Amino acid sequence: MPVQVVVGTQWGDEGKGKVVDLLSEQADVVVRYQGGANAGHTINIGGEEYILHLIPGGILHPHTMCIIGNGVVVDPFALIQEMDFLESRGISVKNRLRVSDRAHLIVEYHQLIDRLQESPGQEQRIGTTGRGIGPAYTDKYSRQGIRLGEIRNAERFEEKLRRNIRRVNRLLTGFYQSDPVNESEIVERCLSVRERLLPLLSDTGVVLHRAIREGRHILLEGAQGTLLDVEHGTYPFVTSSHPTSGGACIGTGIPPTSIDDVMGIMKAYTTRVGEGPFPTEVSGAEGEKLREAGREYGATTGRPRRCGWLDLVVGRYATRINGLTSLAITKLDVLSYLEEIPVCTAYRYRGEIIRDFPAEVDVLAEVEPIYELLPGWKTDISQVRIRAKLPTNAQKYLDFIERQLMVPIMLISVGASREATILE
Ligand code: GDP
Ligand code: IMO
Ligand code: MG
Repeated sequence: MPVQVVVGTQWGDEGKGKVVDLLSEQADVVVRYQGGANAGHTINIGGEEYILHLIPGGILHPHTMCIIGNGVVVDPFALIQEMDFLESRGISVKNRLRVSDRAHLIVEYHQLIDRLQESPGQEQRIGTTGRGIGPAYTDKYSRQGIRLGEIRNAERFEEKLRRNIRRVNRLLTGFYQSDPVNESEIVERCLSVRERLLPLLSDTGVVLHRAIREGRHILLEGAQGTLLDVEHGTYPFVTSSHPTSGGACIGTGIPPTSIDDVMGIMKAYTTRVGEGPFPTEVSGAEGEKLREAGREYGATTGRPRRCGWLDLVVGRYATRINGLTSLAITKLDVLSYLEEIPVCTAYRYRGEIIRDFPAEVDVLAEVEPIYELLPGWKTDISQVRIRAKLPTNAQKYLDFIERQLMVPIMLISVGASREATILE
């Protein structure tokens, strides 16, 4: 598939990192198209774990070129830290990474505002990662943001940055009744990374267009997931970008007509980090057991993830919104301890059955999941490499998903490592 999108079908943390790493073997170019360092994509190779926040997972394959697209919001300090971390582990990054000059800059005041918006006493807490994502996209859409390319002209960049800092200080001291930030210190810090950033910048849309014309295999790596999309997700409990497949076009400059395949990454159960309704959430000891079995702790913030059963209302919605052409089911091994596995196929809302994912979070918070109980397999499946060799009930679980969503499963993950994978 020359141009393939990988998209999270739930609330993030579906195992995109692992799948992107696997698919990168066949890819020439791997691109992140939205979000920022709020993402935490885990890749496990030979017992070594890498958690990537900004740089595409393809970086671990030396033959790939990696791109941070125009739709991403870039914290330059997080980027440099990640580059240095990878270089220190023997992975060459320098000549293989390009960053779009249209991508927006995250400045430390974005993180400060993010924290203030989330502080106790604020009306609406989202449970963000605190990486400044919302405030940076707010600046972008209110046309006050700074694009990375603007650092090329140091004087103009400084002028704009100072203007923004003064505006932010009015917000901090007025609305938030908090201390102002130090203008010169921030300017100095931002200018100090200029030399590191300049060689990375490029008109990545042009690079990608050329790659498509040459028939290269391009992998577009989504961060977060469908239900965290600011448009299609559980608004307002979402991130501020477009993780869905449409976002891959906007966030890279690749036209919709050039996308050949959209693979949805679906965990065999569901997790969510942060606030907001989650119909199939399992509380108490049962939820705890699922969390421990899946080691469900945030890759970016370390927060315990909320856990629950697979929700195929969500699955159908993600299939429709993203136009999924294939599925990857991850963490199937985690369910091996269960006698019976509930799978939600519809919701009941005030006596009525609903099959389409509702727009309003108030409705979602009230729905009751309707479950089908599928039999468990109670066997370790982490060594299985062929779908037909899985226990019958595990095969039935996968068949059930395929039948409900009408999308073929092309990849099954039965462990965190590269090897623990069944490819169809
Ligand atoms: P991402 O944000 O979608 O890339 O997912 P995360 O990296 O945040 O979370 C997925 C977690 O599950 C990571 O710790 C992975 O190492 C781990 N993981 C991925 N696939 C599997 C799998 O099939 N089985 C198990 N047990 N763990 C997995
Ligand atoms: P990956 O790419 C899971 C969640 C946060 C919060 C909401 C908004 O690893 O799947 P933000 O900091 O983006 O303003 O937070 O979105 N969130 C994620 N949850 N996985 C992620 O990324 C997430 N990135 C953001 O927990 O609820
Ligand atoms: Mg993650």
